[in-house]
Amino acid sequence: MFEHLTAAPPDPILGLTDAFRSDSNSNKINLGVGVYKTEENTTPILRCVKEAEKRLLEREQTKSYLGIPGIAALGKQVRTLLWGDRIDDERCGTVQTPGGTGGLRVAADFLAKRFPHARMWCSTPTWANHPSVFAAAGLDVQYYSYLGEDGTSLDFPAMLADLEQIPAGDTVCLHGCCHNPTGVDPTAEQWEQIARVVREKQLLPLLDFAYQGFGEGIDEDAFGLRQILSTCVDALVCSSFSKNFGLYSERIGALTAVASTPEAAAATQSHLKISVRTNYSNPPQHGGAIVSEVLASQELTDMWIEELAEMRARIRQMRTAFVEQMKRRMPERDFSFIARQKGMFSYSGLTRLQVDELRNKYSIYVVNSGRINVAGINEQNLRPLCDAIASVL
Ligand code: LMR
Repeated sequence: MFEHLTAAPPDPILGLTDAFRSDSNSNKINLGVGVYKTEENTTPILRCVKEAEKRLLEREQTKSYLGIPGIAALGKQVRTLLWGDRIDDERCGTVQTPGGTGGLRVAADFLAKRFPHARMWCSTPTWANHPSVFAAAGLDVQYYSYLGEDGTSLDFPAMLADLEQIPAGDTVCLHGCCHNPTGVDPTAEQWEQIARVVREKQLLPLLDFAYQGFGEGIDEDAFGLRQILSTCVDALVCSSFSKNFGLYSERIGALTAVASTPEAAAATQSHLKISVRTNYSNPPQHGGAIVSEVLASQELTDMWIEELAEMRARIRQMRTAFVEQMKRRMPERDFSFIARQKGMFSYSGLTRLQVDELRNKYSIYVVNSGRINVAGINEQNLRPLCDAIASVL
């Protein structure tokens, strides 16, 4: 049966990591996958995570199954991160998921099963895996405008006009903060308008919330999400703890459904549980136990907030340094937008050809769309990177 299969194309993001690994150039630079790197080019385990693991190891008694929704305490902790002080817990149901991607897939399966005619609307551009995950669940994926023609700012009138045209009952996928791949987020006023249109047009907002704390801070980055939650009746939120807890390989995230009443929330969660059970039965424990342990302790939470601030500050520093270096090499060109973008990524404006040249000539790995992982830049690779970019530009 398999003899006639031809190889599938590599994943646009994770496939780059494989290519990078097999590149023998000792000066190679990986700015592909969204993984935080220190100045020393490592991705260490956060101190709060190590401490939580120590405590868990001492206390852990069993590896028996978790319930389908995962660790009960984690659900409440996740919802507190989403809502802040104004938590409306009764209207929520959360399931722990394997990463944010797991949450997206559970949400997509639930939507495809319960609302088979509803479409999923994604921003142009969006995370390369969004359309694939949604389509794999059987959803019809459509697109709304997002990035302007300049490639550096939000075309808000076009976005709003497109949202206004989406039929009632369809789902609109919004990036809660640190838009992936562009780093371009709506302003507070724009979020208010987005929330109003989503409510008026009776759309279901699905928020992909994978970078909380990487933009401005835990609460600041939740502004748009909270605007949506306080304006709209129903919502789905996919949280990820890969980036902000550095728990990439532990695959820990959560899917929270918000509904009009406690009864509707419980019913929605019961459908999410079916989606979980038919995908992976119940979630793995370790990542969720770590996040829950950190958030249950004020001492560990303070440590986490501090470590998150360190990561955020380093990325910002690299943005500024990158802009400065590029300005020296190409004074006629304005790169200042890169310092304004939020989160891990920068949409550099590099074309597909230029991306290929960076890789083939300089062993610099960037996603085909021109997305750069700013967190992969450090003092050592900054200059050769900027030399190479200037040369391909
Ligand atoms: C990314 O966008 O690079 C990350 O979210 C990792 C992934 O799974 O693609």
